[in-house]
Amino acid sequence: MNLAFELNGKPAKLEIEPRETLAEVLRGRCRLTGVKLSCEAQVCGSCTVLVDGLPVSACTYLAYEVRGRRVTTIEGLADSSGRLHPLQQAFLDHFAFQCGFCTPGMIQAAKALLDENPAATDAEVIEYMSGNLCRCTGYLPILKAIRQAAVELRGQR
Ligand code: FES
Ligand code: FES
Repeated sequence: MNLAFELNGKPAKLEIEPRETLAEVLRGRCRLTGVKLSCEAQVCGSCTVLVDGLPVSACTYLAYEVRGRRVTTIEGLADSSGRLHPLQQAFLDHFAFQCGFCTPGMIQAAKALLDENPAATDAEVIEYMSGNLCRCTGYLPILKAIRQAAVELRGQR
C-alpha cells in the first residue's frame, strides 16, 4: 500500500506492507536507526517516536496509521543549523546515558511532556516517564537533564 506522511518536517511517500510496524518502516525503509527496538512489546519505551506531537511505541504501531500525519524521530530534533534540541544537549551535559539505547525514546517522551507541560514538577516528570526504562544509567541524571531542558525551553517561549 502507499503511505504518505510528514517525516521530520519533510514529505515522505513509501510503498509498505499493511502489516509493517512504524519501527520497521522507519528503521528499515527510512534508515532512521535512532528508533531503537528492544522489547518489541510496548513495555520499554526505547522505540518511542512522536506522531502529531504525541509519543507512541513504534514497535507495535502499524505504519499505515501515520498516513497524513506528522512523525518526528530523534533525527528530526536538531534545528536546521544542526544545533541540538535543548533536551539532547541536556542529556549530554548531565551524562544521562551510558549505552544510549534508551536515550532516543527518553528524549522523545520528554519532549512530548515538556511541549504539553513546560513547568512539569519532578513528580510529574517521573510519572510521565515511567514507561521509558533505562537499564544502565539510573534515572537521576535523566531527571536532571529534563529539568535543565525545561528551564531552557521556558526561557525560549
Ligand atoms: S521496543 Fe517498543 S516499547 Fe520496547
Ligand atoms: S543508557 Fe543504556 S539503557 Fe539507558
